[in-house]
Amino acid sequence: MSELHPWVAAAATGVLPDWAVARKKRRAHMARVAELLREWGEARGDHRRDVERWCAVGYLHDVLRDADPDDLRAELSSPWDQLPDEVIHGPAAADRLRRGGVRDEPLLTAVACHTLGSPDFDDIGKALYVADFLEPGRQLQPKWRARLREEMPERLDTVAKAVVGKRIQFLIKKGRPVPLETLGLWNRLAKGRLWASASEV
Ligand SMILES: [Fe+2]
Ligand SMILES: [Fe+2]
Repeated sequence: MSELHPWVAAAATGVLPDWAVARKKRRAHMARVAELLREWGEARGDHRRDVERWCAVGYLHDVLRDADPDDLRAELSSPWDQLPDEVIHGPAAADRLRRGGVRDEPLLTAVACHTLGSPDFDDIGKALYVADFLEPGRQLQPKWRARLREEMPERLDTVAKAVVGKRIQFLIKKGRPVPLETLGLWNRLAKGRLWASASEV
């Protein structure tokens, strides 16, 4: 098993890379997400290294959240540079981590796609997606959030499905488009097959 990258190991103790752009309130959110992830990793009985990865991703996901989106866009190549302002900080953080030598693909996907979700999520990606949405600092629907937190970490897929379903319902209610990545995560988690492939019709 390879050593954790120094940025990942440091983030597991709450220390951010020196290129972080996150204000105080944001850091408090990141700490709450990281704390949930550490708790869940430990409750799963995961290896210490994995518990550290889970905790680290809680800190690293929003490490560039308060940077100017246009500055982040300028660093990214297509198609990532097309993303809207509120989404771009994830891919930008993953790109910085990768350029700095982080090679942990499930962790990088978790960071890159934490806002929209992704059908390519490993457990660490699903857990971050869920923790980011359910952390106790979020004011909206606290009872619903608390109930879902109680189901973690045992029912990761069920809880992730509830969260992504809620997000899709919200977007539909507002008449807004649902990103393909979000629908992709839903389809990964939903029961049953999508439909017969063309060759089977
Ligand atoms: Fe974020
Ligand atoms: Fe976040």
